[in-house]
Amino acid sequence: MRQILVNASAIVCGPAHGGPVRHPTAEHLGIRTGVGLGIDDGAISIVAPDADLHDWLRDEPGPRSPVPGSRLDCGGRLITAGLVDAHTHAVFGKARLDDQARRARGEDYKAIAAAGGGILSSVADFRTRDEDELVRLTTNRLAHLAALGTTTVEVKSGYGLALDHELKALRVIQRAARTLPLTLVPTFLGAHEIPAEYRGARRDAYVRLIVEEMLPAVARSGLARFCDVFCEPGVFSRDESRAVLVAAKALGLKPKLHADELDPSGGAELAAELGATSADHLGAVTAAGIEALAGSDTVAVLLPGTLTFLGKPKQAPARALLDAGAVVALATDFNPGSSPTGNLPLIMALGVSQGRMQPEEVFLAATVNAACAAGEGDDRGRIRVGGPADLTVWNCRDLRELSYWYGMPLAWRVYRSGLPCDGVSAGISSADSGAAPLSPVS
Ligand code: NIG
Ligand code: FE
Repeated sequence: MRQILVNASAIVCGPAHGGPVRHPTAEHLGIRTGVGLGIDDGAISIVAPDADLHDWLRDEPGPRSPVPGSRLDCGGRLITAGLVDAHTHAVFGKARLDDQARRARGEDYKAIAAAGGGILSSVADFRTRDEDELVRLTTNRLAHLAALGTTTVEVKSGYGLALDHELKALRVIQRAARTLPLTLVPTFLGAHEIPAEYRGARRDAYVRLIVEEMLPAVARSGLARFCDVFCEPGVFSRDESRAVLVAAKALGLKPKLHADELDPSGGAELAAELGATSADHLGAVTAAGIEALAGSDTVAVLLPGTLTFLGKPKQAPARALLDAGAVVALATDFNPGSSPTGNLPLIMALGVSQGRMQPEEVFLAATVNAACAAGEGDDRGRIRVGGPADLTVWNCRDLRELSYWYGMPLAWRVYRSGLPCDGVSAGISSADSGAAPLSPVS
């Protein structure tokens, strides 16, 4: 079925060729005015002046009268590619409200984890929940991301930390992808923490379990495209991370790394050495790490919401990474502990205010470069004839507004492969509407 989007103030097409984009400039935005878009069978078929689009719609082969809804008057709004969120931990049970209150009393993220909060408390909770309930929770939460303008989301497992629970998390992602009009990219993160039953002298046994049993089973299941490791002092060491990712690569899972998130871990250098698709966080990356990333194709995925939510005074050195020529992306890190938001435009605003990135840099970081970090760099994160109609129409005219009205829901209409996906979360944020709330009641 043909559809047209007309009366747009401008279309931000993005770069003419797929990513990655280094040293982004306004040229890479590919802004076009005086044109609209035609969609056929979920793909972008034509970018042309509105009058030509009306002719094109009328000339559709088959039944004469176009069905209602096949023409969207954008009312002078801005059209961009749907945003790409390249780093989330969206499959979890309950929120961690206590952790936040404890941080406000002065305890820090690692101390809270050591005292029984943190990731392991989410693991204990996750293991009690069945797959159907987790599908419901995950679907409801991801629907919010779609309503905020995101059409592609990388989603990690990592709150199971036992083979059956990790596979449960990956199945949840697969099932959520079947019901949501979003592209979900699944990542296995069995190396998110050492589970309680392997603490102390048995930590080596957990790394062996991942390498010898979990990874082969995950690869056989076909449920994950990437393998990630939380490489951080006190969590997985650089050598342990290398062992997991080398084994993952041999099984066809592409490596990613939580690198230098809170303290330097040498993670950025390891990511570059392994040819990882991305090195994420980088709040404590060193000069050597920046140099290693700049000289590689590994995407530096920055998550400024995380350190902001944790109340940390520092941020990843976005400017130094960009100026050195690294490929920089932005993502939400949506998770119950360190970043309970799926609002990628809000993260773009933080990229400007906390990372001193320019508005065009944050836009390219949340579209074409993020698509590269999610392994979708050829297809998504930009608008091109022949590409998927993943589009967001925004309640603004100037691209800089996306990273200016921070926290405001600016997305007006959102399409994934030509199908509307903005209405899917209607009502679910309202706990008293009778619809599903964001977090489970218990
Ligand atoms: O990216 N650092 C590890 N993982 C998440 C936090 C997960 C959690 O606290 O539950 C992160 O910050
Ligand atoms: Fe993370």
